[in-house]
This record gives sequence, C-alpha cells and structure tokens, in this order.
Amino acid sequence: MNGPRLARRALLAAAATAPLARLAGAGLQPLRLRAAPARVELVGEGWPSTEVWAYDGSVPGPTLRGRQGERLVVEVENGLPEPTTVHWHGLRVPVGMDGVPGSSQPPIPPGGRFRYELPLADAGTFWYHPHLRSAEQVGRGLYGLLVVEEPERWPVDRELALVLDDWRLGPDAVNEVRPSPHDASHAGAYGNTVTVNGRVVERLEVRPGERLRLRLLNAANARIFALRLKGAEPWLVALDGHPLAPRRIEDPLLLAPGQRADLVLDVPAVRLARIDLLDEGDPQGTYRVTSLAVTRNEAPPPAVDRGPPPALPANPLAEPDLAAAQEHELVLDGGMMATMMRGRAPAARLPPPDPRELRALFGRGLFWTINGRAMAEHGHGHEPPLLRLALGRSYRLAILNRTAFPHPIHLHGHAFRVLARDGREELGRPWRDTVLVAPGERVEVAFVADNPGLWMLHCHVLEHQGSGMMALVEVA
Ligand code: C2O
Ligand code: CU
Repeated sequence: MNGPRLARRALLAAAATAPLARLAGAGLQPLRLRAAPARVELVGEGWPSTEVWAYDGSVPGPTLRGRQGERLVVEVENGLPEPTTVHWHGLRVPVGMDGVPGSSQPPIPPGGRFRYELPLADAGTFWYHPHLRSAEQVGRGLYGLLVVEEPERWPVDRELALVLDDWRLGPDAVNEVRPSPHDASHAGAYGNTVTVNGRVVERLEVRPGERLRLRLLNAANARIFALRLKGAEPWLVALDGHPLAPRRIEDPLLLAPGQRADLVLDVPAVRLARIDLLDEGDPQGTYRVTSLAVTRNEAPPPAVDRGPPPALPANPLAEPDLAAAQEHELVLDGGMMATMMRGRAPAARLPPPDPRELRALFGRGLFWTINGRAMAEHGHGHEPPLLRLALGRSYRLAILNRTAFPHPIHLHGHAFRVLARDGREELGRPWRDTVLVAPGERVEVAFVADNPGLWMLHCHVLEHQGSGMMALVEVA
C-alpha cells in the first residue's frame, strides 16, 4: 500500500466536484445510462487520470432522482467489453427489475440494452451498481446514487451527497483492482486511496450556520468506515434510506459496503468553521477523509440552536409479527483464520463445517459458506434456494458469524428490522437492507416476506460475494 493517499497532503486543495444531478418525472422520457470505459481524475492535480468503468463517463455515475410514488424508467446501454446488469440497491422493486443475472434477467451483452422500470415505493438514499462480477465491475467505478425524494419538502437548507469509495492505485494512479484469492479469503480488497464523489477531496465548501442533509454511501468493495464528524454534532435521521427517530451520534458511525446513512448537520455559525470527516476504522490508524469548511470569510449569521430535525416520514413497510414469526438461522463460515474463532463462535444449531469439505471448496476459489453452502456466481439461476419463505408471512433471521471477519449481509427486495445483537436490543430497531455482522456476533433481523420472487442474500464485501457468500431466498 504505497499509493497516492500518503501523498495527498502535498496536493493543492482540490475543488469538490458534485455529481451531476438529474430530475426524472413520472411518465417522462426514460433516462439513459451507458456503462463504458472512461478516464477520470481520481487523485487530482499533479496526478495522471485513471482508467475506469463508469456510467455516463463519470464516477460516481449521475445521481438519479425521483419522487416517492413515481416510477423511474432507466434504459441501460452496455458499452463494456463484457456482460453486465444494474441492481438498484435497496429499492423494493419487482424481481424482474432487480438486476440479478439468472433470477431477474439475462445479462446485458456488450452493445445490448435493458429497460428498467422502477416503482419508487420508499423515499430515501439508495444506489445502483452492476450485479455481475461485482468485485471487478463496481471496483472499476460502476456505481451511482439514487435519491428518492419525500413527497413533501423536508426542512434543511441544502443537501450534500458524500459517496465514499477506496481504490488500490499504483504509483501513477493506475487502478490495480484484480481478483486475488488472498483478498477474497481475508477482509476483501482494501484500497489505499479514499475518494469522495469520485475524487480525493481536500475539502467541501459549506456556509456558516447552514443546516445540511448529508447522504452518505459506502460504495467501496470492502472498506468498513467508522466515521466521526469532528467539529459538529450531527443527527442521524435515516439508515439505508429508512427513517428513524433523529438522534445524536456518539460513537463513530459504522458504514459498511453497501450501507447508507442520512445525517443532519448544522454548520457552526462561526467564521471559517471547519468540520473534519474522520475514518477511525482503518487498520493503519485514523485519517481524515475530507473536511466541510467555510472558506469564504463571511460574517456568520447569529448562532441559533435549531434543535433536533423533525423525523422523516416513515416508509410503507409491513411490520413483522414477531410473535408469529418463523425463525431461521443463517450461519456464516469459512475464510482464513477461522480457528481464531474457537470458543468465540456463537452457538448455532448447524455443526461447524467439515475441514476437508472446506478445503475442497477453497481449491475451487470458494472461501465462504452460508449454512454450509457456497454459491458461485454462475449458480444464480440454477441453485436451489437456501430458504423458502411463504408470501406474506413474518420471519426472524438469526445471522451467526463464525468467521474471523465482519460481513455486511444484504437482502434484496425487502427491508428488515434489526432487532438485536448478541441478545441486546438494537437501538431503535432500525429498518435496513444491509446489516454488519461482526466476528462471533449473532444478529437478529425480522421482516415480512411480502415481495414474491427469488432474491439474493449475500455479503456486500464484493470479494466475499464473489467467492461463495451468496444465497437465494425464495418468496412464494
Ligand atoms: Cu448492492 Cu446484491 O447488492
Ligand atoms: Cu463478507
């Protein structure tokens, strides 16, 4: 790890480039999105540009916007040298629009097109990315934000999207993303250069006293951010797009790959105020991701305490009936250093995997299992489902991590309530679509299986997803 991040202090302050925004209306012309190779400046001045794969030539791709209750129509064109699809992470859409090759649609071949029709059931912060060879396609830069606006304007002065990613860049800013069994069997591919909205950003300009809604997304393959905003007291208002009762954040906010968080932040009403966004989750130590800074020396407005922001209106999610819910265990096994977990693994009904069987899987590049099964990418359309759920019923899933690594587990087509970790109730029982499960942890979630289809459940560390930690859940 000897890339440009270490050199960034020497860089001149890079102007922040906000992703392009587009507004889509109901029944309007379809949006077009073209996935193709491109060159972008990730590191900024003084560094060569980097070859990436991008939507519409920019990383992140254009921010797609719609309003709750509308339908977004996106026509995707594949200008890549290989097949692709687009998955609309977090949107509860019909399974045929979910972008999973095999269970939703055939892959879009090079030069081909696919028309996605997306009903926007929930308001919130979502995102889109390929669902084929994801570690490589997302890792090369294919991702973008999808914002579904609440029907009524929500009182903030301004919105600011912070799409976080990290890259493994070589000395001349070449993207060195490539599959590696070492990454796949450990924590996934951590990069050496962290970007905000597709660029190493020294600071983003803000105004004194303004109230901001921050939409945070972790689009990295593997990096788990532990974020702290030094110099501000932000409110957490939504996780994975779904509102919760606004609360102050005291501990660093864990943002695992695929997860989103909406925060409300009041910029201090002082001259040249500055807020540092720190990541305390890097194995090599805390570093500054970027800063929000008042750069114009303007006289601040009088300081007022605006108090907590109002809660966002709840999304129309069916409340699981916990008393009647059927329970299933999902046990995560595999990876390197699993023997470290002896004595720390949560008690599960399923016995630990047979080491000989695991070794045989490892030999095929499959390092991870869910309930003893490793699903390879080409198994999408053929594997029997791991779980069969009855349409309309409530379920509790206990996710048990017997591995030595954390896993953000994502379920398609639904959102679930996070009930508890190791028996302790999760604060506010938030709705999520991706839940981080620490080594040795037992996390309980609950939801109503109300969207019929064959849905993916997988780890969002994309190198883990690509090496077995995937399963299909059938709702019928
Ligand atoms: Cu964001 Cu199946 O993934
Ligand atoms: Cu994982």
